[in-house]
Amino acid sequence: MKIDQISQTPSRLYLKDYTPPTHTFENLFLKFYIHESETRVTARMNVKSSKVQPLILNGENMKLVSLKVNDQVVPEDNYKIDAETLTLLYPPLEFTLETVVIINPEANKSCEGLYLSKGIFATQCEAEGFRNITYFMDRPDVMTDYTVEIEADEKKYPVLLSNGDLISKESIGHGRHKVLWKDPFKKPCYLFALVAGDLGVIQDNFVTASGKKVKLEIFASHGKQARCHFAMESLKKAMKWDETAFGLEYDLNQYMIVSIDDFNMGAMENKGLNIFNSRLVLADLNSATDTDFERIESVVGHEYFHNWTGNRVTCRNWFELSLKEGLTVFRDQEFSADMNSRSVQRIKDVDALRISQFNEDAGPNSHPVRPESCLAVDNFYTSTIYEKGSEVIRMMQTIVGRKGFRKGMDQYFKLYDGQAVTILDFADAIASVNQADFSQFKLWYSQAGTPTIEVIENYIPSQKSYSLFVRQSLPPTEKLPTAKPFLIPLKVGLLDSKGEEIRIKSKQAFVNSDGDPVLHLKDFEQNFVFEDVPEKPVLSLNRDFSAPIKIQWKATHKELVHLMKYDRDAFNRREACFKMTFEELRQLIKLGRDDTSLTEHQLAEKVNPLILDAYSFVVQDSKMDQQFKALLLTFPSLDLLAQDEEVLDPVLFKKAYAALSLALAKKLGTHLLANYEILNLVNSRGARTLKNRILRLLVDGQHPGATPLAEQQFKQSQTMTDKIGALLALNDTDSSAREHCLAAFHSDWKDDAVVFNKWLSLQGLSERPSTFTNAVALTQQAPFSLENPNNVYSLIGNLTENFYIMSLDPSGSYKWFADRIIEIDAKNPQLAARLCGSFNFVKKFTPSMKEAALQEVNRLLARTELSRNSRELLETCLK
Ligand code: BES
Ligand code: ZN
Repeated sequence: MKIDQISQTPSRLYLKDYTPPTHTFENLFLKFYIHESETRVTARMNVKSSKVQPLILNGENMKLVSLKVNDQVVPEDNYKIDAETLTLLYPPLEFTLETVVIINPEANKSCEGLYLSKGIFATQCEAEGFRNITYFMDRPDVMTDYTVEIEADEKKYPVLLSNGDLISKESIGHGRHKVLWKDPFKKPCYLFALVAGDLGVIQDNFVTASGKKVKLEIFASHGKQARCHFAMESLKKAMKWDETAFGLEYDLNQYMIVSIDDFNMGAMENKGLNIFNSRLVLADLNSATDTDFERIESVVGHEYFHNWTGNRVTCRNWFELSLKEGLTVFRDQEFSADMNSRSVQRIKDVDALRISQFNEDAGPNSHPVRPESCLAVDNFYTSTIYEKGSEVIRMMQTIVGRKGFRKGMDQYFKLYDGQAVTILDFADAIASVNQADFSQFKLWYSQAGTPTIEVIENYIPSQKSYSLFVRQSLPPTEKLPTAKPFLIPLKVGLLDSKGEEIRIKSKQAFVNSDGDPVLHLKDFEQNFVFEDVPEKPVLSLNRDFSAPIKIQWKATHKELVHLMKYDRDAFNRREACFKMTFEELRQLIKLGRDDTSLTEHQLAEKVNPLILDAYSFVVQDSKMDQQFKALLLTFPSLDLLAQDEEVLDPVLFKKAYAALSLALAKKLGTHLLANYEILNLVNSRGARTLKNRILRLLVDGQHPGATPLAEQQFKQSQTMTDKIGALLALNDTDSSAREHCLAAFHSDWKDDAVVFNKWLSLQGLSERPSTFTNAVALTQQAPFSLENPNNVYSLIGNLTENFYIMSLDPSGSYKWFADRIIEIDAKNPQLAARLCGSFNFVKKFTPSMKEAALQEVNRLLARTELSRNSRELLETCLK
């Protein structure tokens, strides 16, 4: 851990302190002698500097065996070594450095550096894991050529992989063998990877647009090959898509994906050798849900797309992380939109953004897409960097149009291929070829927070003139008391009373390279005038969610229903329904708070009949796309409601949701049930999505016969989607059906490292009063393991975000939670830090929960052993 010498507290890093590396590294030769508890790593590199100065290399958790400069042992007083660095005090201007170190992969439980996962050696180097493997300058703007030799036991580790091309493989006697890999592209060390193990593989090929045949391989533990085919198809689709959408071809002769069970994140884009969390590779109809398949397609795409946006052009330093992550999320979202339904994809992406990013921006951890400082680089992997970063890129595309954006991307690669650059370099590349001025637009990178716009409409019939008065604001914070106005691109539409689109005529609309009109809101207050508007229109604002903002707009129920029925912008059709439901839920929370004696059934009687009519229209529309319909029937999540409520009272929230489900089931239950029966005969993803949403509504709404129906679905259906759909519907009920189905599921899947997590998640998500004691017991018995990140996220992560359950015995539950954080933090700080996120809402908790949670946060912070990662997140919660 970096310790500030004076204050003895971990020191902060600042964007403004950036200085280029002191030395350049022409090449790096690595030799690994693989052994479980003692792996020997030799590193040889040619180092250069323009002036005589010390060379500081990063290195942690390793034993230095030998140190040579120009093949001469370095005398002891010519170097310094501490827990984090090796410093050569008087190196020449140009020299060869050779180090030999010993590391212990078996003892390494952090899922970072070189570690063992179920007998497989794997690496994870992003962001700063390479420094646990050997001494090197561990920063992304140090790019070099890699040659890697791996020597290991031939029987235990027949598969030996690293980045680039395989040069040779040979037996060397004594039961050992060795391989040589060479990566022809310069790369930063965070993209280095090594895998050694006994793995099964499936193989395929892809011929690039220019005719190169690329060998594709997916490795997984033996017996799991049959579950790798979906990921392979996804990979080929992604390779094709990047050629068509961006003219980007793959650059090596082979592409490998390795699936492992112990992984902190989802997946990692190491050059030519991606390493994936097994839950994001292994899938077939029996073991994976439709949602899993969608996710796998998008993550395989994401990591593949990094080959250009991240690997060929990388980040100057970690403050520029969104340069690769925001852009690559944007690319994977576009890929998914092209592979599936564009509007459904957009709605899901925005839902995710609002749930995680808007939430982050409204709380203590609000930070700009390009942050200015941090304690732990690992904590940078936030939804602001990822999802908001992607929205900022999308706004650029909206402003210049798709054609213009493509030109800008071409320019970006032309200028920066092979380099480590900044977010601002990217923005300038897009602007320059489009004659656009992004100077104001770039504020999206430096000002944190979600802007709100307020809209006032005015229609003058005599002049056929319609105007929109728009005011933007950003909630003031300590860091940013007065923000400058953003450039907000707004796509708008006007509907007439028949639901037809009124053609937009406005001098203020900018037409982009695709011919689409876009309003540019640039000032704090601006008036937009539309001419030739024959009647007072219904406004469809921020179509397709053209900007990541909140809108204050007092629309009537009638207007919202009109949009829901007729808007040709599918996003806003759903948005209208969502807004209505959102406001209704808030109203129900208020009613529940005003009179706590109201039961959920009494509250259900108070649901606004206009809402029920709107839902009735949705349910009866037989032409509507099924996935889209399922989204209309899905309620805004608790996290979203909590953003607008002052207090997150889980009991009141739960009652409001229950009341809405009861009212809906009472009015539409019979109809929904009939729909269910019809959908149940159809074998398609859309039908399954809608059917399972209906099942959930029927069970939550206590419709007669719903519970047995869920049990029947569980027993009869062959797909994992339907099994999980049934279990989720039953999960909060006090029924024998739930017990039977969960027990059956457990006995089928307890030995499956991927699917077992679904069972654990159900245990953590349930709102039955016994959930907490149950979960505690589960953590104490195999196969649950605190060392497996998937197990921890599924059970403990879901449990501690289950605020209703945590509210039943706040002090007991938070104490237990904090004890688990302590235990995990000692082994895997990244994992512990992610769990700390469950404290993010702490300021909004009810008094008893707040007190219990804060007491534990303070207890954790008082521990000197607490990792920098967890410390930073917990300190933030208190702000
Ligand atoms: N580069 C990241 C993986 C990563 C992040 C490794 C932080 C180490 C530390 C990768 O490209 C990524 O973003 N993965 C995401 C999934 C993706 C589809 C958004 C993940 O792992 O969650
Ligand atoms: Zn990524």
